[in-house]
Amino acid sequence: MSDVLSTPAGLDAAARPSDLAYERVRHLVPEVEWAAFADDIDAIARLKAEKNAVVLAHNYQTPEIFHGVADIVGDSLALARHAQDVEADVLVLAGVHFMAETAKLLNPGLTVLVPDLLAGCSLAESVTPKDVRALRAAHPGLPVVTYVNTSAAVKAESDICCTSGNAVRILQHVTREWGVDKAIMIPDEHLARNISAESGIEVVTHPGRCEVHDRFTPRDITQIRDGHPGVVVVAHPECPPEVVAAADFAGSTAQMQAYVKNKAPRRLALITECSMSDNIAADNPGVEMIRPCNLCPHMKRNSLAKIRRSLETMTFEITLDEAVADRARLAVDRMLAIG
Ligand code: 13P
Ligand code: SF4
Repeated sequence: MSDVLSTPAGLDAAARPSDLAYERVRHLVPEVEWAAFADDIDAIARLKAEKNAVVLAHNYQTPEIFHGVADIVGDSLALARHAQDVEADVLVLAGVHFMAETAKLLNPGLTVLVPDLLAGCSLAESVTPKDVRALRAAHPGLPVVTYVNTSAAVKAESDICCTSGNAVRILQHVTREWGVDKAIMIPDEHLARNISAESGIEVVTHPGRCEVHDRFTPRDITQIRDGHPGVVVVAHPECPPEVVAAADFAGSTAQMQAYVKNKAPRRLALITECSMSDNIAADNPGVEMIRPCNLCPHMKRNSLAKIRRSLETMTFEITLDEAVADRARLAVDRMLAIG
């Protein structure tokens, strides 16, 4: 699906925003349930117009946010790219804190709001700037490749950032540029090992884990395959390497969407956060979804009511220390320049 959501075919663009949005999820969400969202969806549409605001939503947002109020949806990489170019005064990031920080880094003139300041990430919390300096000291001469799921202060200590969508390319690029055959890749040890296996490049890791993907096991996949013959299993690379090895495909949330669109499997199991299955089901009504999901408590701190309040009160605004932001921006810009 496209990153930028548009009016469904056959509907009048002057219809209520909540009615327009319902056309995208009619086969997924009962009408009575959607009716409870309509007031907030219409109010958010009004507020966006009044404040020249846009809502960017990560692929793990629930359908009423993803289809109801988001102007742009995507994985971490797509959200960063769009944030850089967005033409608005205000950006509300329905995702987690590091995504909003990245948007602010890339577009410092924009007012960037988060609906809930506590929407964090276990990976971002697992690593500090001091940890990065210690790793550098222990492995002199190696580049530091940092997953975007980190604070701006950690990015500022890094040579380049990556996302799950471009990690192989970034690792290949940076080791070639630096003339080394190894890199420090932080903070997700599973992602680092998975990317190392795919690229053949050795990595030094840090013991960070995504609390959502770390819970999946190869046994989960065996049970899914036994119970649902012919199922295609797609996993996020934040899962343990044994889980990724047992899947048919692993990729970022956007790469999962593209894979499903291209392969059009009859039966599908997504080894990732729960809302991914809803959002993929909305776009692929013919696919039978097996739903072995784990909820991300941070992503789920977002709600329509909080997005509405965020725009009404212009809270919670992301601010960054300028010196930290300048150094962190270098690492993110180097990633985006690689394409
Ligand atoms: P993506 O960049 O693949 O969307 O992943 C972000 C994330 O937080 C996954 O847990
Ligand atoms: Fe962080 Fe995992 Fe939640 Fe993604 S799913 S935001 S990596 S805790």
